[in-house]
Amino acid sequence: MAETVKVMISEEDTARRIRELGEQISKDYKGKQVHLICVLKGGVFFMCELAKRISVPVSMDFMSVSSYGDGTSSTGVVRIAKDLDETLEGKDVLVVEDIIDSGRTLYYLLDVLQKRNPNSMRLCTLLDKPDRRVRDVKVDYVGFEIPDEFVVGYGLDYAQKYRNLPYIGVVEGVE
Ligand code: IMP
Ligand code: MG
Repeated sequence: MAETVKVMISEEDTARRIRELGEQISKDYKGKQVHLICVLKGGVFFMCELAKRISVPVSMDFMSVSSYGDGTSSTGVVRIAKDLDETLEGKDVLVVEDIIDSGRTLYYLLDVLQKRNPNSMRLCTLLDKPDRRVRDVKVDYVGFEIPDEFVVGYGLDYAQKYRNLPYIGVVEGVE
């Protein structure tokens, strides 16, 4: 069977939900500037769309992390492959992620970032798989809660493919 992608969340539904999140964030950060932090590469599509829907002043920075593990599960020890360009001192930081799975990566990352003295720090994720959680991370904004299925699109990859899909889908036909 050829590898295909079945739509789980359509382009329209994804766009609508991101618009709602942007409106909520704009209300919550009224009178402030929000400093968005993108966790590369998966978070980049979501962060760009979200940033366009936020009406308070926005600044952005990017970081890239890779987690040490045995290939099938992350240990939660994260290596910072590309660090942020700017300090977080006194900023209202919103970390933007594609998906929270076990929570190991974010648990470690939030701890590292918190030590840099932001004024506040919150977490926004497009997708959440609560059934898979191993580490307890507080998520402030969630696009969609999804079941325990491996999804692609909107930044998420399967072997580096499918990040560019404008919807969330499930890969079918893989051995
Ligand atoms: P964790 O929360 O530390 O387990 O790791 C989360 C990371 O694993 C995410 O940032 C993704 O890069 C990757 N990941 C988890 N679930 C999926 C999925 O369903 N599709 C694609 N990548 C995933
Ligand atoms: Mg990620």
